[in-house]
Amino acid sequence: GMKQRLLVVANRLPVSANRRGEDQWSLEISAGGLVSALLGVKDVDAKWIGWAGVNVPDEVGQRALTRALAEKRCIPVFLDEEIVHQYYNGYCNNILWPLFHYLGLPQEDRLATTRNFESQFNAYKRANQMFADVVYQHYQEGDVIWCHDYHLMFLPKCLKDHDINMKVGWFLHTPFPSSEIYRTLPSRSELLRSVLCADLVGFHTYDYARHFVSACTRILGLEGTPEGVEDQGRLTRVAAFPIGIDSERFKRALELPAVKRHISELTQRFAGRKVMLGVDRLDMIKGIPQKILAFEKFLEENHEWNDKVVLLQIAVPTRTDVPEYQKLTSQVHEIVGRINGRFGTLTAVPIHHLDRSLDFHALCALYAVTDVALVTSLRDGMNLVSYEYVACQGSKKGVLILSEFAGAAQSLGAGAILVNPWNITEVADSIKHALTMSSDEREKRHRHNYAHVTTHTAQDWAETFVCELNETVAEAQLRI
Ligand code: UDP
Ligand code: G6P
Repeated sequence: GMKQRLLVVANRLPVSANRRGEDQWSLEISAGGLVSALLGVKDVDAKWIGWAGVNVPDEVGQRALTRALAEKRCIPVFLDEEIVHQYYNGYCNNILWPLFHYLGLPQEDRLATTRNFESQFNAYKRANQMFADVVYQHYQEGDVIWCHDYHLMFLPKCLKDHDINMKVGWFLHTPFPSSEIYRTLPSRSELLRSVLCADLVGFHTYDYARHFVSACTRILGLEGTPEGVEDQGRLTRVAAFPIGIDSERFKRALELPAVKRHISELTQRFAGRKVMLGVDRLDMIKGIPQKILAFEKFLEENHEWNDKVVLLQIAVPTRTDVPEYQKLTSQVHEIVGRINGRFGTLTAVPIHHLDRSLDFHALCALYAVTDVALVTSLRDGMNLVSYEYVACQGSKKGVLILSEFAGAAQSLGAGAILVNPWNITEVADSIKHALTMSSDEREKRHRHNYAHVTTHTAQDWAETFVCELNETVAEAQLRI
């Protein structure tokens, strides 16, 4: 029969657009774990619906961009500046994102956020309705609709109100916090009820799924079962689907001449020094200041390592219109400057901090040549950077230092050195452990991680989710 069609709906399309002329657009791959994971999914008849990251007020521009995106199987949702301000910068990234990662707002922003809450939540619902409208235009009976992330918690309800027979799944790429945190959200019930309209709700870890079920039982008074959440006989299936990467794509890249060239350049540049790597969006949740302070402590306590180790920190700019992110940028620059001033010499500095994104080949080369990767997220849904590092370390067998607060700690825990990023003494000690580790121990740890990363792929993740969604819907139909 015909292949089942999949409509993937996410705020961020896999490509972001830049305007080059009245009807000229250039497209580049968007950054972030959600996009990376979905790019690793092949061989399905999938279309993407989402925002191209740009304001297009005129019809000529909208038509041209729609055409350009169609070649990438992408369908744009056009959001105007005011909606982006209130929905994306405001409700999504200033309210839901920090809350889901257990980060409070700074004191001076708290009251303003409380005051703006209602108008931002209304914008959020309006934006979700705009995504739903585009879905309706492209939906055909039998399609699977897979909604992604905290931007679109209101979407399952919009879709089911429109057509109860749509097969709807929703997946969260961030942590779902303890119900004690979640219940401070003024719109807590409305959002939960909307997500529960989906047939299947998925999370990266069992803990996040359990938190979600407790929020539903405690806040809505519904019944939690091992299968999910029940409301008057109707079941919403809730389960954990840990994401993975397309590790083959990384391994293939390492064989390319261009990447090999990069690798030998880097090897020469840093000859005689150990290299540690950080790759993060410049986000509060990544614990970048904590990481740098731990590195400073390590340098302070191990003078013999000055000049023999360097930290390369790639900090990809993100959500730059949100004030919190602007503050973080200047905070990180200040710390880096201070430490480089303190430990640098005329010929070398201990920290190379880059405020930009890298292309895929440069990134792979960095993953392959570095001795240690440092992931110090304060909270992180999964953290794919840790997976990508492991996939590229087949020959070097470098050490992964990984925050216990990243979802990845549950899968790479036995191979990585797990740390509490708030404890900079512990992180500094782990840096020393990593830099001086015997090759036997490195190999053993690497083998463990590598086996996991190469066998739990993005492809499997997506197939498992879609298959479970189809089954859930089929079972529900048997029950009526
Ligand atoms: N990444 C990117 N551009 C860069 C550096 C990294 O697109 O310059 C990718 C990286 O390869 C990874 C993703 O961004 O796939 C980050 O995903 P992760 O899950 O680690 O964190 P997130 O950004 O989603 O919070
Ligand atoms: C995280 C979120 C994604 C988001 C990505 C990049 O991975 O879970 O939904 O796309 O960060 O952030 P941005 O705001 O640029 O889409």
